[in-house]
Amino acid sequence: MNISLTRMDPAGSDREALMSFMTANEFPFHMRPRPSASQVASSIEDGSFDDEDTTTYWIEHSELGRIGTLALEDLTDPTPLFDLRLDSKFRGRGLGTGVLRAATDHVFKTMDVNRFEGQTREDNIAMRAVFLKSGWVKEAHYREGWPVDGGTPVASVAYAILRRDWENGTLTPVPWDDFTIDRAP
Ligand SMILES: CC(C)(COP(=O)(O)OP(=O)(O)OC[C@H]1O[C@@H](n2cnc3c(N)ncnc32)[C@H](O)[C@@H]1OP(=O)(O)O)[C@@H](O)C(=O)NCCC(=O)NCCS
Repeated sequence: MNISLTRMDPAGSDREALMSFMTANEFPFHMRPRPSASQVASSIEDGSFDDEDTTTYWIEHSELGRIGTLALEDLTDPTPLFDLRLDSKFRGRGLGTGVLRAATDHVFKTMDVNRFEGQTREDNIAMRAVFLKSGWVKEAHYREGWPVDGGTPVASVAYAILRRDWENGTLTPVPWDDFTIDRAP
C-alpha cells in the first residue's frame, strides 16, 4: 500500500469535506467524540486546523482513496505532535501503522526536528499498537491524566520517535530506573 499526505485548505476549498468528515465520524478516544457542525466551523475559523502551529492533511491511500486526516501540531516547538483520525470505515483494517510510518517519514524528511511525539488514552489499544508497530517508544504514562466527561479519568500515554532511531531502524530505550535515595528522611 502507498500512503500520501495532501495538505488541505480547511478554510477554503476543503471546508465542506472537512466539516462532513468531522461530523459524520465518531472519535471515541478524543476529548470531543462527536463534534457538532458549529464546533467544527469554529475550529476552522479559529485556525485549529491550519495556523503557524498546525498543518492538516488528507491521508490518501493508493487503492482506497481518502481514508482520514492527519494534523501536525506544535509546529513552532522543537517537537511536533500529531492527531490521526481514520474514517470509521477504514478502522480496524491494519491501515494505521502505514499511516503513522508515512507521517514519521514526512516529518523527518521535511522538518528540522529530532523528535516526533504522540499521546493517546490508555484504553486506545489500537493506537498504542500502531505506535509500537511503527517503531515508536513509550516515554510516559500520566496516571489519571485524561479527564473523561462524567466518568473516572484514565491515563494518558505518550510515545515518541527519535530521528536517529528512524534513520537507523533502532529503538533507544527510556532509562526508567530512577536513582536511589539512601539518606534517612
Ligand atoms: C487509532 C487508529 C489510528 C488505529 O488505526 P487502525 O488501522 O484502525 O488500527 P487497527 O484497528 O488495525 O489496530 C492496529 C493493531 O492493533 C491491534 N488491536 C486493535 N485493537 C486491539 C485490542 N483491543 N487488543 C489488542 N490488539 C488490538 C490490531 O490487531 C492491529 O494489529 P495488527 O495490525 O497486527 O492486526 C484508528 O482506529 C482511528 O483513527 N481511530 C479513531 C481516531 C483515534 O482514536 N485516533 C488516535 C488519536 S491520536
